[in-house]
Amino acid sequence: MRTLKIAAIGADGIGPEVIEAGLDVLDALAARDGGFGLDVTRFNWGSDYYRKHGVMMPEDGLEQLKPMDAVFFGAVGAPDVPDHVTLWGLRLPICQGFDQYANVRPTRILPGISAPLRDKGPGDLDWVIVRENSEGEYAGHGGRAHRGLPEEVATEVAIFTRVGVTRIMRYAFALARSRPRKHLTVVTKSNAQRHGMVMWDEIAAEVAQEYPDVSWDKMLVDAMTVRMTLQPESLDTIVATNLHADILSDLAGALAGSLGVAPTANIDPERRFPSMFEPIHGSAFDITGKGIANPVATFWTASQMLEHLGETDAAARLMKAIEEVCAAGITTPDVGGTATTREVTDAVIDTIRGSNT
Ligand code: IPM
Ligand code: MG
Repeated sequence: MRTLKIAAIGADGIGPEVIEAGLDVLDALAARDGGFGLDVTRFNWGSDYYRKHGVMMPEDGLEQLKPMDAVFFGAVGAPDVPDHVTLWGLRLPICQGFDQYANVRPTRILPGISAPLRDKGPGDLDWVIVRENSEGEYAGHGGRAHRGLPEEVATEVAIFTRVGVTRIMRYAFALARSRPRKHLTVVTKSNAQRHGMVMWDEIAAEVAQEYPDVSWDKMLVDAMTVRMTLQPESLDTIVATNLHADILSDLAGALAGSLGVAPTANIDPERRFPSMFEPIHGSAFDITGKGIANPVATFWTASQMLEHLGETDAAARLMKAIEEVCAAGITTPDVGGTATTREVTDAVIDTIRGSNT
């Protein structure tokens, strides 16, 4: 039996609540499957750790994570610690240090979740957004001069490299090829941004030749918001820059009914390092500790994690259990239900135990 070494970092807000729920579900899957076991190591990093030690994780944090097969991550962010500190202190160093350049965000309208688009249901919205996760607008390049003076200046420079764009494009085309529709939409803003974005378009056309069986089209990001809203069924796999895909994936989450169910995977496709799996929602201080956090996004990303680690049967079984429980109306208040985190978790576990597939 193989053992999956999982690093669990619940971190802030509702993060620990949903990660513990996710670990319970993973235990049930391992027991049901019999082919794999779990070796979970919990790390108490995050804003509490920061308040005690002045850093979000220890200096050798990445070294501690390296031997793991995957990182299962909750959320960062606290009311009393600046967001750029929490983010650049924990989540981004893991993404960047482990070169997790593909951020993968599936979106579907789950059964039982009411979505805001009129006349659109589960079959009409089935997307995967691939977000470039290592460079672009969030590369951290830039600076400030003459602070506080009238002539103060700040730059925020987007970095696009041929290597970075080519590898994300290849990842997106390959992912599109693995899905039934075999269709990729490449998003840019190459009418207004005439350097980096034009290079994106050029590299997309080059890489497309390696995938002759994948159809593809191009969209400008502003027009893309309209297409997502009015013709969701015309889209399948989508690739965009760090900033554009950040924005589009929030829209996608909203159109699918809730950010509370949206998962994300930060993947190192070359598998040199562990990849990281997390719900998209943040730490949600307003409901922290109330036991009503929606665990579905975390379960969905646990399914992405199992898939990435080659446990495809367990991954599919988990997705099916999530859909059954949502369809039965066992959901948390953020999506209109009355169930608690525990009740949704127990329902998913019961479904896994009883499943005969
Ligand atoms: C997301 C989040 C983060 C991101 C924030 C917290 C910086 O919005 O996962 O989309 O943009 O990476
Ligand atoms: Mg975002």
